[in-house]
Amino acid sequence: MERWHTIIEPFRIKSVEPIHPTNRRQRERCLKAARNNLFRLASDDVMIDLLTDSGTGAMSSAQWAAVMRGDESYAGSPSYYRFESAVQEIFGFEHVVPTHQGRAAEHLLFRTVVRPGQVVPNNTHFDTTRANIEAAGGLAVDLPCRESDDTREPFPFKGDMDLGRLEAVLAENRGNVPLVMVTVTNNACGGQPVSLENLEAVRLLCDAEGIPLFLDACRFAENAYLMQQRDGRLAHRSVREVAREMFALADGCTMSAKKDGLANIGGFLAVRDAALAAELRRRLVVTEGFPTYGGMSGRDLEAVAQGLREVVDESYLAYRTASIRYVVQHLRAAGVPVVLPPGGHAVFLDAARFLGQLPWWRYPGQALALELYLEGGLRTCEIGSVMLARRDPDTGTERPARHELVRLAIPRRTYTQSHMDYAIEIVRRVWERRDAVRGVEIEQAPPVLRHFLASFRRTSDSSAARPDGGRLEGHAVVDA
Ligand code: F0G
Repeated sequence: MERWHTIIEPFRIKSVEPIHPTNRRQRERCLKAARNNLFRLASDDVMIDLLTDSGTGAMSSAQWAAVMRGDESYAGSPSYYRFESAVQEIFGFEHVVPTHQGRAAEHLLFRTVVRPGQVVPNNTHFDTTRANIEAAGGLAVDLPCRESDDTREPFPFKGDMDLGRLEAVLAENRGNVPLVMVTVTNNACGGQPVSLENLEAVRLLCDAEGIPLFLDACRFAENAYLMQQRDGRLAHRSVREVAREMFALADGCTMSAKKDGLANIGGFLAVRDAALAAELRRRLVVTEGFPTYGGMSGRDLEAVAQGLREVVDESYLAYRTASIRYVVQHLRAAGVPVVLPPGGHAVFLDAARFLGQLPWWRYPGQALALELYLEGGLRTCEIGSVMLARRDPDTGTERPARHELVRLAIPRRTYTQSHMDYAIEIVRRVWERRDAVRGVEIEQAPPVLRHFLASFRRTSDSSAARPDGGRLEGHAVVDA
């Protein structure tokens, strides 16, 4: 393929949405009203919204055309059959169970296969995956590879699972592991890809114990593209072929079509086992809907079917990953601590190193995310101890997340390169005044998934001892 220095978006824009500029005073007011939680902001008060890449992508004209032919029959809609064949063609699983989004697929799967006290290993569970396993009484165990300990380590497949620890967990919990999950790409660890070699090894370990392997496939195309780019063995294979090879190793997957489905809503579960599919459909009717629409409209099914075919387009994936690499390189050149190497859907700032003056329990990720909003209306997401702290099973006190990150998630096909330049400028401006940034404390938090609804207070107290003795606010998560 020809390569140019300039990154050009491989699309033209036919329809636009205005961005509302705000000034710092207005943003201070908005943040106060949102109790220092960026999830509680009105999106009209945000200039560049990098909170998530989920459901925020722009649809293509071909998707909008498909939406117009969406058939809303309750049962047996042709839109469903187009959706089913797109999933079968790209993923290679025979049985497809549509759901309204990824977490509904997780809920169905874990309620069906996880018994109380059982253990589910994953390279890293994302928040909803963990919450759904725990809601089913299971124990979600994260087994990220050692290379991912250091955010500066440029290892190309930092999404890999730690094979030695997986083997040990399977041996210690023989008969008590209903399935193994691998998340591609590994979102909570920096959007890092999993290697084919690692997946093959996980499959062998599962086979030795007779345990099914499921992929959390939200960002499968980005993972497949990074495999093709970073693994010499796969350099001459198409992304579609690499994806098929990945899925050939698994017994099924959960999918949020809001990411690599290039749709604004939707998801599915896909499996090989007919008996499991029948049980999943039986439950689906109770909570999501009839098996030929799940939680989606016919129009949604059409948008996902078309989106899945577009997402494996290599010029799109080349542009998307180049754009993310560009932001990482520019921030790195300015000295900003970023997670390396660049991942598939987001740029991650290492807030622990960015705000080295703040202890983890002053939540440097949250403090940094608030500053980025104040500086230029940039909305990002903390992926650190606010989102992923655990309760220590022995002492009951709060244990920090592995990393204190701020994620700049890049919506698909939504922003241009100049929006990326603006984001770089805002991060650099906060970097220049980093020493003056204060920490935060939690004012109030719900018991699970606390980051969505918690409220925070700014504090200037960053003394070494924790004044509250480490009591955990919200988050009834127990680590294994
Ligand atoms: N698995 C992973 C790895 C995810 O990143 C997400 C969602 C889900 C499952 C759940 O899918 O939102 O359709 O129910 N992640 C979004 C994010 C919300 O911002 O990373 P969902």
